[in-house]
Amino acid sequence: MNKNIREQEHAVIRCTCATPFQASNVAQLIDAEGNCLPVAPVMVLCRCGRSRRKPYCDGSHVPAGINGNKSDNRVPDRRIDYHGREITIHDNRGVCSHDRSCVLGLPRVFRKNHRPWIDPDAANPEEIENVVRKCPSGALSTSRHGVPAAEPQRPPAIRVAKNGPLEITGNIGLEDDLGSRPESREHYCLCRCGESRNQPFCDGSHRTTRFRDDAPEE
Ligand code: SF4
Ligand code: FES
Repeated sequence: MNKNIREQEHAVIRCTCATPFQASNVAQLIDAEGNCLPVAPVMVLCRCGRSRRKPYCDGSHVPAGINGNKSDNRVPDRRIDYHGREITIHDNRGVCSHDRSCVLGLPRVFRKNHRPWIDPDAANPEEIENVVRKCPSGALSTSRHGVPAAEPQRPPAIRVAKNGPLEITGNIGLEDDLGSRPESREHYCLCRCGESRNQPFCDGSHRTTRFRDDAPEE
């Protein structure tokens, strides 16, 4: 760990609609293979998708600027509850990063191309909780008889998903000029392709726009 990072100081990510992500006191930056990347007490991370030093900002956003506003045609940032006999699954489609952990982990519950797409009675509650715990965006959560499941307890870290968002864990604060509040304070996904309609959060648009980590062509 960088010796200048003071673990007792709160880790926070700050941005405005026009600026890259500034991460302070984040001790762990991890690539998609689990390797630790160099960290500094204050790091500036790319959110426009143009940097040649991803995940770090190299100033490539300057000519065109950053559009960090929320789009009017974004998927509504709204939680829907799917009540089962023993467990309720809560789902906010507006912040799903579409990493498919749920549909691959428990396809009989999270049913791609079905309506309703969630069947909370198709597996036992423990299986569902185990899969929901792996949801990186916070789109999914659960409760039993009105009691929310405990949030995971992880150290503050930023994982750089391959060709995808920054996956934040460990209660890293988020401060922007839109008053954005993550669905889960413990974990959320930030857009680093520049195409999300629900900035600063990832909305899965990197998949349709085929965002790639490779440096853009000249
Ligand atoms: S982010 Fe969560 S809800 Fe979205 S695909 Fe991944 S596990 Fe499913
Ligand atoms: S990284 Fe997912 S929408 Fe930009």
